[in-house]
Amino acid sequence: MKKLLNKVGVLVSLLLTLVLCTHVLGQIRRPPTWPDIALPGGPVRDVILDNCTSCHGIDDYAFYALDRDGWDALIDEKHHGNNSVSLASDEEELLLDFLVETLGPESIPFPRDYVPPEIDKFFTDADARIFMEVRCISCHSLDSVFNTRLSEEGWRVALVNERERGAELNDEELERLTEWLGRVRGVNLFE
Ligand code: HEC
Ligand code: HEC
Repeated sequence: MKKLLNKVGVLVSLLLTLVLCTHVLGQIRRPPTWPDIALPGGPVRDVILDNCTSCHGIDDYAFYALDRDGWDALIDEKHHGNNSVSLASDEEELLLDFLVETLGPESIPFPRDYVPPEIDKFFTDADARIFMEVRCISCHSLDSVFNTRLSEEGWRVALVNERERGAELNDEELERLTEWLGRVRGVNLFE
């Protein structure tokens, strides 16, 4: 009996160590920020729901910016064998229309590798204002910021996009502004 208890003890402490390690590792390396694509309305919505969401989501389409032939080729290339997909030709047309319209060659592909750093300095309202006056208004007024409300993760995705569009932001700055916007221009659950 005592032996058994010992074994259980060892097992429990092993498990605990494992849990702790994963926790610590999780803190050191967060997963890369994942893009966010809205499920479209209209007839293409059903094409996607019927054919494209059983294995993976639609957000990862945002890693690409392709023309019609490019999308066609990518979908062929990614899906064969067990992963093959077959669409009726009218469905395929609808899907390609949607893909080229939202993620065509003019759009900016979302980077795969942005991992948010931990920050220990935070923007005050004044810091954030001044920062944005310097870094954002060369392209547009701050109306687009103050007319938008997003969750913190939503702001992170938006700012990663802005950086791809040309805004000058290092990782720390991106994260500081994300934290501030999530706090001040966040989503009000009671609204
Ligand atoms: C049967 C499972 C399955 C279905 C259904 C499916 N996919 Fe995929 N898809 C995969 C797999 C597996 C991969 C990854 C293949 C690889 O990376 O080589 C993938 C990759 C992709 C990629 C590239 C993602 C990336 O991160 O590079 C895109 C875009 C994509 N699929 C679009 C679609 C579209 C559009 C549909 C509907 C027409 C669809 N998928 C339906 C299994 C599926
Ligand atoms: C190199 C040019 C450029 C810079 C710099 C820039 N943006 Fe943008 N931003 C754009 C463009 C282009 C759009 C889309 C068209 C528009 O709304 O004017 C946009 C749109 C937006 C939107 C609306 C949502 C959207 O995606 O349409 C927000 C929010 C935004 N920017 C935030 C910022 C913030 C915050 C900064 C500063 C850190 C910034 N931008 C700096 C080019 C830029």
